[in-house]
Amino acid sequence: MAATWLDFWNGSHRIYVNARHAEVHYAKLAADFIDRIPAPSAVVVDWGCGEAYNAEEIVAHAGRLVLCDAAPATLERLRQRFGARPGRIDIVAPDEFRERYRGSVDLFVVNSVLQYLSDAELAQLFADARAALAPDGTLIIADVIPQRDDVLGDICNLLAVGLKNGFFLAAVVGLVATFFSPYRRLRTTVGLSRHDEAEFLQRLEDAGFAARRVHPNMGFDQRRMAFAARPV
Ligand SMILES: C[S@@+](CC[C@H](N)C(=O)[O-])C[C@H]1O[C@@H](n2cnc3c(N)ncnc32)[C@H](O)[C@@H]1O
Repeated sequence: MAATWLDFWNGSHRIYVNARHAEVHYAKLAADFIDRIPAPSAVVVDWGCGEAYNAEEIVAHAGRLVLCDAAPATLERLRQRFGARPGRIDIVAPDEFRERYRGSVDLFVVNSVLQYLSDAELAQLFADARAALAPDGTLIIADVIPQRDDVLGDICNLLAVGLKNGFFLAAVVGLVATFFSPYRRLRTTVGLSRHDEAEFLQRLEDAGFAARRVHPNMGFDQRRMAFAARPV
């Protein structure tokens, strides 16, 4: 049984209610990611990338895409899926990333990951991003959960996305399954990390960034926050 969020992500989970949900989710993220790529030669990082189904589409708009995740099982699946594109798609664990990328990253994206990080892991992420970014590079941290818990909003958001994209019934079934799942157990025992806008901007500043909140958020949930930061 998963004791930590990383165990959860490294195991076989059912966070996407069906294949259509995963497809719609990753397609939207890819479109949002591509919008933020500064140049066709850019080195871009997707940190905490998960399944990254649309990596080929993203790298078609960049010089190199680095897929970084801490879950070994996820890295293994990514290597099987994209291993034939060495060089343009680089698949790394966070410690490999730290060794390989220094001062060379143009865009560093972290989407929907902060809620699973401890305070110490967040500090390490800021230090890694600061060291990896080129002087004019950009860090985007998106899908950050605000302090106020809103489970009803989470439910409505999933149902609305399901209704619009043809998986409404699967979303209803998925919600019932989530109620009995390890995700809900971890959400009540370990909890999700949440952030306050002003305090988060201050933390980024203390870590050596000039930062601001940006709109829209990446993905489908506009209740969550996105930030853009540059090294100073
Ligand atoms: C909700 S998924 C997000 C995947 C993708 N970024 C997205 O937006 O769909 C969270 C991801 O964060 C990764 N993760 C969790 N803890 C991590 C850590 N300490 N370091 C790096 N990645 C981590 C998990 O393995 C998982 O792939």
